[in-house]
Order: sequence, then structure tokens, then C-alpha cells
Amino acid sequence: MPQIIHERPEDAALIEPLLEKCFGSERFKKTAYKIREKLEPIRELSFIVKESDKLLATIRYWPIIIGKHTEALLLGPIAVEPERQGEGLGVSLIRKSLQVAKDLDYQIVILVGDPEYYEQFGFTSAAENNLSLPGPVEDRRFLVKELTSGSLSGVLGTVSGGGIGPQPAGRISRLQETATEITKLTSFAPPPEA
Ligand SMILES: CC(C)(COP(=O)(O)OP(=O)(O)OC[C@H]1O[C@@H](n2cnc3c(N)ncnc32)[C@H](O)[C@@H]1OP(=O)(O)O)[C@@H](O)C(=O)NCCC(=O)NCCS
Repeated sequence: MPQIIHERPEDAALIEPLLEKCFGSERFKKTAYKIREKLEPIRELSFIVKESDKLLATIRYWPIIIGKHTEALLLGPIAVEPERQGEGLGVSLIRKSLQVAKDLDYQIVILVGDPEYYEQFGFTSAAENNLSLPGPVEDRRFLVKELTSGSLSGVLGTVSGGGIGPQPAGRISRLQETATEITKLTSFAPPPEA
């Protein structure tokens, strides 16, 4: 049975081949990749799906700044092993990670992806919210979601990488609690609404 678990450092060796299979080496030229250059994924929000020792899926989040000082998250890449796509792994990973991000008080998530897939999670046009990326992107695929209602209010500007620096003490203690809970959550169950 597939299990959602936190990504560990040793999983990187399995994740890269999956990303290569799903996106090819062209991925490194994309604006979202350029933003992530020199950053580390946020450990508490980076999950994999494994079945026995086989990696089935990965999702990662990165710290970004919108405009001058608004901290936010960049979601991606998410990739599911081609022969296991369409089983609900993608939906489960996104729902789980967004819930953890909300529990940890992150406010805003952006991504570049197909709106037809991401609208089910509440993502809408980022360009229409006066956000921009520091490189080429198809406007319709640049998406944003508020994790707390109203958190985009007054927020506008260009996204840059980095920024979620020293964690507020409250968030750190909740990170530790959440990490423990997720480590225990080893069974995979698609949400009823998926
Ligand atoms: C996109 C991806 C992460 C979705 O994960 P998944 O586990 O296959 O998807 P789920 O099983 O959770 O959901 C399947 C549903 O999403 C739909 N879907 C999948 N990709 C979609 C897309 N790009 N646009 C619109 N709908 C999409 C499927 O048609 C299916 O719909 P149905 O349930 O009505 O049949 C996965 O297919 C994948 O890794 N694709 C290649 C890499 C990629 O494109 N990553 C996303 C970059 S933003």
C-alpha cells in the first residue's frame, strides 16, 4: 500500500530520476526552477509517496518573497510515477501538504501548473492578483492560493526566492509536533472527495 512520508535527504537520489522522467532536462530552464536555484526545499512540507522501497511520487515547497517582504510558498515540482498516475496520489499529496502548510501558519502558496488540475484545491490566477514572476511564464498557468482568507489583500509584486528566515518560535514548536504526526501517518487514503 502506498505511504505518504516526509522526504529524507537520502530520497533525493530517487527523486531526481522521477523528475527527469516526468519533466525532462528542459525543466531546469523554467522560471520556477530559476527561482528555486540555491534554495533548499522546506523540509516540513516536502513529502514522498513510497510503496515498499519504490518511490511513487514527490512534492516539494520552497520559501519565496512576494514584492518586498511578503513571505509565501512556491509549490513544485509535484510528480507521480507515470504508470501510477490517475490513482489519486497527486490529489492526496497536495491536500496533505497544503493542510500542513496551513497548520504551520503559512499564508500564501503560488505555483506554475495547469489551472484545470489545481482549481480543485482553490488555486486561482496569480496574474489577476497582480503578482508576477521574474521570468517567462504562461499567465494562465501562474496560480495562487490563500491559506487564510484575506492573506492576499494588499499583496502585489514580483516573486523572488528565499526569505522565510528564522522561524518564529511558535511555528518551530508546531513544526516539530506536525513532523511527529506526519511520521506516524503512514497509511495512504485518498480523501473522500477526491
Ligand atoms: C499532474 C500529476 C501530478 C497529477 O497526479 P496524479 O496522481 O496523476 O493525479 P490524481 O490521480 O490525483 O488526479 C487524477 C485526475 O487529475 C486529472 N489531471 C491530471 N493531470 C492533469 C492536468 N495537467 N490538467 C488537468 N487535469 C489533470 C486527471 O485527468 C484525473 O482526472 P479524473 O479523476 O477526472 O480522471 C501527475 O499526473 C504527474 O506527475 N504528471 C507529470 C508531471 C506534471 O505534469 N506535474 C505537474 C506540474 S505542475
